[in-house]
Amino acid sequence: GASGELHAASQAQPNIALIKYWGKRDAALNLPVVGSISITLESLWTRTDVRFVPGQKQDRITLNGRGEEAESRRITACLDLLRQRAGVDYGARVASRNNFPTAAGLASSASGFAALVHAGAQALGLALSLAEQSVLARRCSGSAARSIFGGYVEWAHGQLADGTDSVARPLLGADAWPLRVAVAITSTAAKQVGSTEGMRRTAQTSPYQSAWIDTQEADLSRAREAILARDFEALAQVSEYSCLKMHALALAAQPGLLYWNGATVECMHRVRALRQQGVPVFFTVDAGPQLKAVCLPSAIEQVKAALRDVPGVLDVLDSGLGEGARNIAAGV
Ligand code: PMV
Repeated sequence: GASGELHAASQAQPNIALIKYWGKRDAALNLPVVGSISITLESLWTRTDVRFVPGQKQDRITLNGRGEEAESRRITACLDLLRQRAGVDYGARVASRNNFPTAAGLASSASGFAALVHAGAQALGLALSLAEQSVLARRCSGSAARSIFGGYVEWAHGQLADGTDSVARPLLGADAWPLRVAVAITSTAAKQVGSTEGMRRTAQTSPYQSAWIDTQEADLSRAREAILARDFEALAQVSEYSCLKMHALALAAQPGLLYWNGATVECMHRVRALRQQGVPVFFTVDAGPQLKAVCLPSAIEQVKAALRDVPGVLDVLDSGLGEGARNIAAGV
């Protein structure tokens, strides 16, 4: 590159929580009230190119080739964390691209901030471990902590007030148990209540908040054991339980947070009917109307066909489990 420019590019993928994160114990540091367990996807990705330019004052950011407004303050705040570490004050040029619809409720902020931290740290020559990158990604967007790693990942609640131990770690590699995920898109409208506001409202008004916190440790150990034993039925049961419990908690906020539409609910029934027929599949739903069906590889075509058949399903995406954030050739 041009003289003095500091440059790198990285890719990261979205992750889907099986044991959900909902609630912050420190909003400024993005520290969670509960630990969580997720799977990192393979074929959906964010690729981000970061270039720190001496003499440039402001950050210049594009997403999918267009000027980015909505997330520019969060992106600059994230770059500031990296610049502070490196003792650099240059503005950056950031070009980021997603190969999946940003409004699809697929946690583009998780893959986006994981890729940004990974590329930014490398561009600035910061020799950060993946755990340190996970801590930085967490501060930019909570669930991004998990997308630094591939396969099955646990993000710890942590004990320290500064959050340096609220970090993700890999539990099992993607290849060790290669599950598949079908994502039923039931709406492309932008989210009505984002996760930060939804978590704040839930903590302040839902009568179930303390029960949510008290029961999480048991769910985490059940899921950990199911993953290490590759016990699909056990993972299905605890994952649907965690999903429905998170939504029950949010539904009981005031005003209630109702993230589902009719097609989301119909998809849940279809997935349960399939499992009753012996098809190895379970569902999970995040803070939006899309349904994610997780299955054994042998069931993926049947699961996709069943979801496509549900009225109100606009599209069905499909992915395996993939690796964590990594370096790519420049240019996205
Ligand atoms: O970190 P955020 O703001 O993307 O919040 C994630 C919240 C859920 O997707 C609903 C649950 C989770 O653990 O990913």
